[in-house]
This record gives sequence, C-alpha cells and structure tokens, in this order.
Amino acid sequence: MKDLTMDKIVNLCKQYGFVFPGSEIYDGFANTWDFGPVGVELKNNIKKAWWKRFVQEDMNTYGVDAAILMNPRVWEASGHVQSFSDPKMDCKKCKQRFRADNLIEEYSNGAVAAEAMSNEEMEKYINDNHIVCPSCGGFDWTPIKQFKLMFETSRGTVEGEKDAVYLRPETCQGEYVNFLNVQRTTRSKLPFAIAQIGKSFRNEITPGNFLFRTIEFEQMELQKFCHEKDSMSFYNDYKKRALDFVKDLGLSEDKLRYHDHDKLAHYAKAACDIQYKFPIGWEELNGIHHRGTWDLSRHGEFSGKKMEYQDPETNEKYIPNVIEYSIGADRLTLAILCEAYEEEKLENDTREVMHFHPALAPYKVAVLPLVKKYHKEKAEEIFKLFSKNFMTTYDETGSIGKRYRRQDVIGTPYCVTIDDDTMNNGTVTIRNRDDMSQITLPVNEAAEYIKQKIEF
Ligand code: GAP
Repeated sequence: MKDLTMDKIVNLCKQYGFVFPGSEIYDGFANTWDFGPVGVELKNNIKKAWWKRFVQEDMNTYGVDAAILMNPRVWEASGHVQSFSDPKMDCKKCKQRFRADNLIEEYSNGAVAAEAMSNEEMEKYINDNHIVCPSCGGFDWTPIKQFKLMFETSRGTVEGEKDAVYLRPETCQGEYVNFLNVQRTTRSKLPFAIAQIGKSFRNEITPGNFLFRTIEFEQMELQKFCHEKDSMSFYNDYKKRALDFVKDLGLSEDKLRYHDHDKLAHYAKAACDIQYKFPIGWEELNGIHHRGTWDLSRHGEFSGKKMEYQDPETNEKYIPNVIEYSIGADRLTLAILCEAYEEEKLENDTREVMHFHPALAPYKVAVLPLVKKYHKEKAEEIFKLFSKNFMTTYDETGSIGKRYRRQDVIGTPYCVTIDDDTMNNGTVTIRNRDDMSQITLPVNEAAEYIKQKIEF
C-alpha cells in the first residue's frame, strides 16, 4: 500500500485488538506495548514458524530457555558493562535527549555513517553543520556523553549489601554460557546450533516508531558453533535462509535487501543486516554476524572453564567459531502487519483486510451461524470440533457481510457459514478471505481442508 503510515497501523492495531499502548489507563508508559487477543496469536505464530524452520527442521539445532537474570560476570565477559552505551546529547533548551549518531544520520539522509565517528568528530559535525534540536529547533547542545543501555537492578536480602544485576540486553549470552551443557547432553559433534526465543531489555534513548524500537522486546536468536574452515559457508547459508524465511512469511522481495556492514567489531569477520522497507523507510529487520571465537574465548577467560571442543576423529582441540542469526519478534510482527494490510476497493465498497499467511493468522477460521435463532446450536457444535484443531472464533452478531468484514480486518483466512444446508445435508460454506470465493464441503471434511491450507 502506497500511503500506509505508522499512525495508521498503530490505530488499526489498537482498534482491532492487535496491540494496545502499555499501562493505558494510567496514561500509558512511553514505548511499552501490550499485545491484545489477536496480536498475541499473531506474534506466537511468528515465533512458532521461526522455531519450526530453524529448530524443528534442523537436525543439529537445539533450543534452550535461559534465565533473564544472569551472573553479572557474564556482562563483563561480553563487554556490555564496559561499552554497551549510546552517545547522547541533551538539548539545553527543551531538555530532550537525542543520540548524536542519529542526529547526524537523519541530517545527512544516511549519507554520513556516524557509527564510524568518534564523539569529538560527531560534536564537530553537529556544530559545523548547525544541526538543530528536532524537538524545539534550538541550537544549544550539551557535550556528548555515553549513556548506558543496560537496565540495572539489584539483588540481596540484606539492605546495603545489594549486588548489581542486569536485565539481559540480548538473549544470545544464555546460548554461549550453555555451549558445554548442550554439547555434552546432546552428544553433538560440531557443527551444531543453539537457539532461544525470549525477552531482552534495553534502555534505548530514542525508542519509538511503535514496535520497531522498544525498551522491552523479544528476540529469536541462534548461534551456530563450527570450525573456522566452515564458518564463512555457514555465514552465507544463514544470510540466505534468513531472507528466505521472511519471504516465505509473506514479506515481498522488493521491500527486502541485504545491508553488509562496512564497520566491524574488532573480533568480527563479517556482519550483515536484512533491511525491510517499513513506513518509516529502510530499516534493519535482523542481523547475521560472524563473531569468530570472541564469545566463547571471553567466557572461557572470565569463568575459568575451557570452552573448547575436541574433534573425536582428528583429536583437534579448538574454540569454535560462532555464526549468529538474530531477529526481533516484535519488529518482525510490525513488518508482517505493514505488509499484510490492504484497503481494497470493491465494486460498491472498500474493505480493510489483513492478508496474513494463513499459518500466521490469529484465527484460522470464523464460525458464523447465518440465522442465530436456527443455526446457533449447530454452529457451537462446529466451533467445538474446529477449535480442537486450530484457533477458531465465533460470531453471531450483525449481518453476514459485516461479520465477513470483521474477520477480514483481523486476517481470518476462512469463514465457515452454518445455514439450512448444514442442518439438512451436513454441508458448510467456506469463504476465502483473499479472493472472497466460496466453496461448499461436508462438515467432516472442512477441518481437514483448513488444516492443509494453514501449514507453513
Ligand atoms: N545478539 C545480537 C543482537 O542483539 P542486535 O542487532 O542488537 O543484535 C538483533 O539485535 C535484533 O533484535 C535486531 O535486528 C532487531 O530485530 C531486534 N531489536 C534490537 N533492538 C531492538 C529494540 N530496541 N526494539 C525492538 N527490537 C529490537
């Protein structure tokens, strides 16, 4: 859709129960969002599709669900305690806080790669180009300071003897610290991978743009542990598989592109984002990183445990290389919502419709009794039958046309109407969301028909 704006998606999500502003009755809590009845189904289906593709269908990938709160030494080893921060500047006039690199990138329309500049270089660029405050238009900046991105809390039962602990800013550390456990219990040879889906937290200075950048979000991350000689081939493999996955979920090819990084962390051998064309422009959807031996070496050093692997055939002992594939579940949900939405012109009408892949649709089918008085009982019976197989909704209020529209906008791929034919011949009418065509099937074949259509 040409003129789809983020505001439109935000309002639609709120209106139909996909996503609500967090703590709304208390006037909200900036940049937190609550998934509603259809939103939670959509996001769960996205996570299920990812797990199926990258864990279930891969012989050598194993899942974990690691604790969010980890030993603080983990974050020293990972480098987050020392350097996980953003360069921030405050506007002295309106007191708003901004990321200096974002100010430069927005001003230069992405032409200047501020991430490669030092704080002094950024300050000079902002002054030389007279970049003003985007909020009040003033030009009175504080010097740049590094702003810590990890949320810190404390644990301890005796007041005054508390230890700082952190809400994890990424899930992958739970995969690195369990490398030896997973390798031992699965008796895996290299290469193998560990995957995890879970919440991460970042005290982002400039969150916003709905689900795109929030302070609390879910990540789907996978680490492939391998020998150095195989590492580039796995890196390229995950680049391709990551792109195929989002295309298979329905994101269109012309809104997707690779963005290879020019500037790499000192330990990294390669890094690439897949970008999606959101209503706010081209932005990162996920990352694929060749991290070398950095993570396991650092955890080995800080924990005193040998994070090594011994090849049973060659007896070679080595610290494995890591290829990481990481994607935000909320950010992907946003992309899916943007892609699926259509305001479709019909002959005498327009309809709002979400063209979700059937596997992602919150409800797979809506059961609609044509006339409540006569068909309700049978429809409830069919609801019970369907709901044992997949998410089913039931709607008996309003005209059948209005009920179809309500299902279209939440993306229900099939509507099953219960009418006199159901009572007399045991058949139901199945209406397709996308082309609005209808077919008639015996009730006992309908569930099987829908099951086949919703596979991913
Ligand atoms: N372990 C590597 C890592 O965390 P990242 O590029 O910082 O890498 C990976 O994050 C993915 O997590 C991003 O591509 C994005 O999809 C998602 N993500 C990161 N920060 C986010 C935020 N503040 N809000 C929503 N999603 C976020």
